[in-house]
Amino acid sequence: MEELVNIYLIGFMGAGKSTVAPKLAEKLNMDWVDIDDIVEERARFSVAEIFDYYGELRFRELEKEVLKEVSEDPPVVVSVGGGAPMDNENWSRMSSTGIIIYLEVGPEEAYSRIGSDGSRPLLANLGEDECRAKIKQLLLKRHPVYQQADIQVKCNSTEPQKVIRKVVESLPDDLLGSVEGSVE
Ligand code: S3P
Repeated sequence: MEELVNIYLIGFMGAGKSTVAPKLAEKLNMDWVDIDDIVEERARFSVAEIFDYYGELRFRELEKEVLKEVSEDPPVVVSVGGGAPMDNENWSRMSSTGIIIYLEVGPEEAYSRIGSDGSRPLLANLGEDECRAKIKQLLLKRHPVYQQADIQVKCNSTEPQKVIRKVVESLPDDLLGSVEGSVE
C-alpha cells in the first residue's frame, strides 16, 4: 500500500503559500489547510491579535499544536506560516510525514508583495526602510533552514499558475500518479 504523505508549503511571508496551496491541492485531488487559519479559528482571534494579547510565544505554541495535529492526518496540502519551520520539532514533524516544498522569494520581492500589511505582526508598524531591513534580517536566518526542504521553487516575479506547474513537475512520480487534468 502506498504511504500517505502531506505536502508542506514553506517560505517567507508573501511567498504565496496560501495562494498556491488550494490550487495545488485541487490539482492533486487533495484537501488543503492553512495552519494560521486553524490557529485563528481555534483562538477566535486573528494572528495579529494573538501576538498582541498573548505574545509571540503563545502563538508559536498554538502553531506547533496545530501542525502536530495536521501532520497526523495525511494526505493534505499544508500552508505553513513563515516562522514555523524555524522550530526543530516542527521541522522533524514535517520531514517525517511528508514532502517539504520551499517557495523561495528574495527580500525585495517579499517586501513588494507584503508592503506594510498590518496583518503580519512581525512587520507591522514599521516604516519602509525598517520593514525592508527586518525582512532582510529574518530571511538571513531563515533561508538556510528553508533551503533544507526536499524541493525548492524560485518564485520571484512568478505567477501562481507557473509556481504550481514548477511544483507539480518536481514532485516524485508516485505522488504525480494522482494528478488529474493539466495546469493551465
Ligand atoms: C509569520 C508568518 C505568518 C504568521 C505569523 C508569523 C512569520 O504567516 O504565521 O504572522 O514568523 O514569518 P505567513 O507566512 O503565511 O504570512
